[in-house]
Amino acid sequence: MALINENYLKLQAGYLFPEIGRRVREFAEANPDKKVIRMGIGDVTQPLVPEVVKAFHQGVDDMANAETFKGYGPEQGYDFLREAIALNDYKNRGVDISADDIFVSDGSKCDTGNIQEVFGSGNKIAICDPVYPVYADTTVMSGKTGEIQPNGYFDGIIYMPCNEANSFIPELPTERPDLIFLCFPNNPTGTVASKEELTKWVNYARANKCVILYDAAYEAFITDDSIPHSIFEIEGAKEVALEFRSFSKTAGFTGTRCAFTVIPSELKAYDSEGKAHPVKPLWNRRHTTKFNGVSYPVQKAAAAIYTEEGKKQVKEVINYYLENARIMRESLKETGFAVFGGVNAPYVWVKTPDNMKSWDFFDKLLFEANVVGTPGSGFGPSGEGYFRFSAFADRDNVLEAMERVKNLK
Ligand code: MLT
Repeated sequence: MALINENYLKLQAGYLFPEIGRRVREFAEANPDKKVIRMGIGDVTQPLVPEVVKAFHQGVDDMANAETFKGYGPEQGYDFLREAIALNDYKNRGVDISADDIFVSDGSKCDTGNIQEVFGSGNKIAICDPVYPVYADTTVMSGKTGEIQPNGYFDGIIYMPCNEANSFIPELPTERPDLIFLCFPNNPTGTVASKEELTKWVNYARANKCVILYDAAYEAFITDDSIPHSIFEIEGAKEVALEFRSFSKTAGFTGTRCAFTVIPSELKAYDSEGKAHPVKPLWNRRHTTKFNGVSYPVQKAAAAIYTEEGKKQVKEVINYYLENARIMRESLKETGFAVFGGVNAPYVWVKTPDNMKSWDFFDKLLFEANVVGTPGSGFGPSGEGYFRFSAFADRDNVLEAMERVKNLK
C-alpha cells in the first residue's frame, strides 16, 4: 500500500497565489468586457534590460557553437557568476563572502523550501506572522508541525506577530526556536529592519545556537543607505545565518529563473550529541545530488546585471517600481487608507476599510473596481484585516487602479 505524506493533508486550501489566480480567472471569464488590473502576485511587468538580453543572446550563441558549447555546468553555478556576486553584492559593500559560499539556483522560493532538508526534523521553526507563505507551508510539508488550530496557527510553529503595535517588526520569541525565518525588506508588509534590529537577532541566534534563514529577495529596493542589504553586514552573522537572494525582483527574472543562496563556511548546526557540523557541505551534497544547475545562458544573463551598464539599467527599472509604490502610497493615503511599507520595498500594505476581512475586501475590489491585490490573511492570521498591493505593474495601470480604488463606494 503506497502511503502519502499526510503532512500535506494538514495544509488548508491551495497555495495563496494560485488561489487568487483561480478567483481572478473565474471573474474574467464571467466578465470578458472588464479590464482587470493585477496587483496581486509580486510578478514583474517590465522586460529584461538590454544588457541582460544581450548577454542572454551571447549565451545562446555560445551553445550553438561547438567550441563554446556547454553541457552540464557546475551544480553550484559558473565561477563567472559566483565571483560577480561575491564582488558586487558583498565585497563592494564591505562584506567578506567567498564565491565558494554562493550556490546559484533556479529560485528563492525553491531554496527557502528546500533548505529545511539539511536541518533535523526535530527543529522548532520561528516565523513572522504575516509573512511569505512558503516558510510555513514547507514547514508543515516537512512534518515539523501538528494540526492547524482554530486561530489559524499550526501547532509546533513559533509565530512572531507583526502588527501596527510593533511597527511590523517581530519581537524576539519568548519560546526558544532552532531556525528563524526573517525576511527584509518584508513581504508582505514592506517594512525594513535597521542595523540595530538585525544585530539584536544575530546576538540572539548566537546566544541560543539558532540559525537565521534570511530572505533578502527584495534588498535591491532599499534606497536608504543606513539599512543593511544583507544579514552578513552584521558582525558575527556568518556563524549563525544563511541568506537567500534572487534575480527575480532585482532584475525581472521571475520568468527566466535565477537566484542564489549564501552559506558561509562558518555556519554550523549540531548533531544529536551536540557536536557542531558546518552546514555548507550538507547543502552542497543536496545541491549536487538533486540539482543540475541553472542553464548557462540564464547565468550569462544574470552576470550582466553586474556590468556598469547593467547596473545602471537595472537601477532604472527598480526606480520605476519604487515610483509606482510612491504613487500608490500617496493615492491610497489620500483615499483614506492607513498605509504602511512601500518605501524601501515594492509592497504597499494597507488596513482594509471598515475592518473588512481581507478576502471580503479582495472580492469587493475585484468585483467593483476590477483590481486585484493580495488578502493580508493569506500571509498569516495577523494579516487579517490588511491587504497588499504590489508595485510591479505598468505605470498606466497603477494610475488607473488607484483612480478606481478612489471611486469605490
Ligand atoms: C509574492 O507575490 O509574494 C511573490 O511574488 C511570490 C514569490 O516571489 O514567490
